Amino acid sequence: MRNDRYAHEVNYKWYPFTQMKDLDTRGPVVIVEGEGVYVKDDKGKTYIDGQGGLWNVNIGHRREEVIQAIIQQLQKLEYFSHFGGFGNQPSTALAMKLIEMTRPEGMGKVFFTNGGSEAVETALKIARQYWRLQGKAGKYKIIARRKAYHGVSLGGLSANGVTAYRKMFEPLVPGFRHISPPYCYRCELKMTYPGCGVACADTLQQMIDFEGKDTVAAFIAEPVMGAGGVIIPPKEYLPKVQEICRKNEILFIADEVITGFGRTGEMFAVRHGPIQPDILVVAKGINSGYIPLGATLVSDEIYNAFLGELKEGKDFKHGFTYSGHPVACAAGVANLAVLEKENLVENSRKMGAYLLEGLKSLEKHRIVGDVNGLGLLARVELVKDKTTREPFPFDQFIALRTAQKIMDHGVILRPLPGDVISFSPPLIIQREQIEQIVDAVDKGISDIEEEL
Ligand SMILES: Cc1ncc(COP(=O)(O)O)c(C=O)c1O
Repeated sequence: MRNDRYAHEVNYKWYPFTQMKDLDTRGPVVIVEGEGVYVKDDKGKTYIDGQGGLWNVNIGHRREEVIQAIIQQLQKLEYFSHFGGFGNQPSTALAMKLIEMTRPEGMGKVFFTNGGSEAVETALKIARQYWRLQGKAGKYKIIARRKAYHGVSLGGLSANGVTAYRKMFEPLVPGFRHISPPYCYRCELKMTYPGCGVACADTLQQMIDFEGKDTVAAFIAEPVMGAGGVIIPPKEYLPKVQEICRKNEILFIADEVITGFGRTGEMFAVRHGPIQPDILVVAKGINSGYIPLGATLVSDEIYNAFLGELKEGKDFKHGFTYSGHPVACAAGVANLAVLEKENLVENSRKMGAYLLEGLKSLEKHRIVGDVNGLGLLARVELVKDKTTREPFPFDQFIALRTAQKIMDHGVILRPLPGDVISFSPPLIIQREQIEQIVDAVDKGISDIEEEL
């Protein structure tokens, strides 16, 4: 138990994804203020927020436009239920905006949630009920990929492909299967792009053949994998997996919780295909994290399957107390207005290219194995041996330690399993701040190399 100024922080709270014994020793970093791409801790130290909150603060911290929208909505209506047909103005305005924005993807309806996990859960349940309503109840399996991250509730967790996140909670939900990720740096199939012909996509067809297409409801995929290590697929990958889904009558659920709203230099990352998912899952950047919010968007074809007479019981028996929360949705409307007005998707593309160029210069370090990025989503993978790509032993916690060193140099970044440092700064970031990030990473890696 601590008895210093941080005692209350660690003596009463249980932090997510955190070994509390370790935190008790090192002490938390208490963030007290934010402004644009910067955050300040309670000791007065300012950092560049290189992880954009948790991949979500797309328009930056403390934006007056969103704050005012929240205040005005609170002064009018703080909350009312969305169940059974009670509407509210901000959720309608946001739904209209989302449908307009996803016209190229062919989305027709929006179901609101409080975050990504709930939005994934909603998508999985929609997929299962959709096939049941088609008279194909046997189509219930979900195919996902190893290294995927789809949240922490039991459905999404069952789709996750990171063993460390899964193993403590088994047995998970039945009916989930996993195929190879498009992870070229460590190809499971031991092939090399482009000679491989993107064979990892073919593992989807192989799994469908093995399970039987009449048993598979959906394939769920992040267009760029996030928490599993920022894995950017070759450009042929998305069209190829979509084609396989269509050929086999399997729904495509695109999980854009991280990648949506400009993160990868396109408004939605499915546009890198481009592909048209049947279900599109969003959260995070939908309102830049000012208030919890997520959404599951579906095509009209999916939605129409749920229509019928009351007595048929086809309605979607699903929802959350805070689905369509007026204040969260008002924040969403204001957030998307800023995103568009300030051309932040274009800034993400331009600054992302600049960030990638800077990070590539770090390949000079002996422990930097792989550098990649798309828009303002990037990765640096640290390895013990660059030539053989041998990873560091797990218990050296190299990425975690490196991220801590980088913090000493004034930048917050997120370490991921597999010794990847991930980058997802607010989309408002400018060249000078990117240079500061690259400089801090350079120094942080040098510090660790000296320790090794
Ligand atoms: C792709 C993806 N899906 C789902 C989630 C879960 O979102 P949340 O943490 O808001 O529940 C995340 C969170 O990082 C994510 O990256």
